[in-house]
Amino acid sequence: MMNPSKLIHASKPFVPPVHSIPLTRTNVTEEISIEGCNLSFSVTTRQGKTIPILKDCSLRIPSGQFWMLLGPNGCGKSTLLKILAGLLNPTNGTVYVKRPRSFVFQNPDHQVVMPTVEADVAFGLGKFNLTRDEVKSRVSKAVNAVSMFKYLQRSVQTLSGGQKQRVAIAGALAEACKVLLLDELTTFLDESDQVGVIKAVRNSLDSSGDVTALWVTHRLEELEYADGAVYMENGRVVMHGDAASIMDFIKTRQSAYIREISS
Ligand SMILES: Nc1ncnc2c1ncn2[C@@H]1O[C@H](COP(=O)(O)OP(=O)(O)OP(=O)(O)O)[C@@H](O)[C@H]1O
Ligand SMILES: [Mg+2]
Repeated sequence: MMNPSKLIHASKPFVPPVHSIPLTRTNVTEEISIEGCNLSFSVTTRQGKTIPILKDCSLRIPSGQFWMLLGPNGCGKSTLLKILAGLLNPTNGTVYVKRPRSFVFQNPDHQVVMPTVEADVAFGLGKFNLTRDEVKSRVSKAVNAVSMFKYLQRSVQTLSGGQKQRVAIAGALAEACKVLLLDELTTFLDESDQVGVIKAVRNSLDSSGDVTALWVTHRLEELEYADGAVYMENGRVVMHGDAASIMDFIKTRQSAYIREISS
């Protein structure tokens, strides 16, 4: 069978967003794990009015990289992430996301279901018909990747929010997930927990080599951990590129906005 990533590139070329800049670590031969082409999403109100939420959004994320999705409140980040996760269908456009993919939600208390860390990370492995040793080995590797090994036997109820998020990420890694889609995981966390979760994702990608992550955030400072980023405004992808260029772009935009409101 043909590799689906090859199919999508052959059938539909990537259309860069308006302010797209060259991706320093990307070239045409690089494998892509996440691609959306000309995605639109609308909802229809009870009165029959169509409200556009996403407008012609395109993005492309190379395999093994940690990317962020940034933009003001209500610009469409969660909607785009849900489309990439297959939780929503786009009104128009095409999506390719390497499988298996995993969506991690914002609220840490919605992520963990089993009594201990070990049981929770092993929970999703039932469907794979693995031996006990294989389960043990996958769980240990995944829990190590998020630096939670010493908590293996801990009750999940005693963990901090960030630790619960790390356990949820370990669960996805244990299932050999290739794409992590993470929606504002650090919103409810204090500063040290925030750093713990973001470092866990960075470390998971660095140690596996073939896991790709897209992380939605409001926090500009988190860009320092990213390889690249997508910046959205008002339902559109307005910028797509390496993390440093996106940081400059957003800072310039913020300064212009401050100048505008103070004049
Ligand atoms: N089912 C829906 N019906 C009507 N409007 C919706 C629906 N889903 C999303 N929206 C609207 O679409 C816009 C984008 O929502 P979305 O949750 O994707 O934004 P976001 O960038 O994730 O925001 P935040 O930063 O606050 O999480 C918002 O104005 C939201 O109110
Ligand atoms: Mg959101």
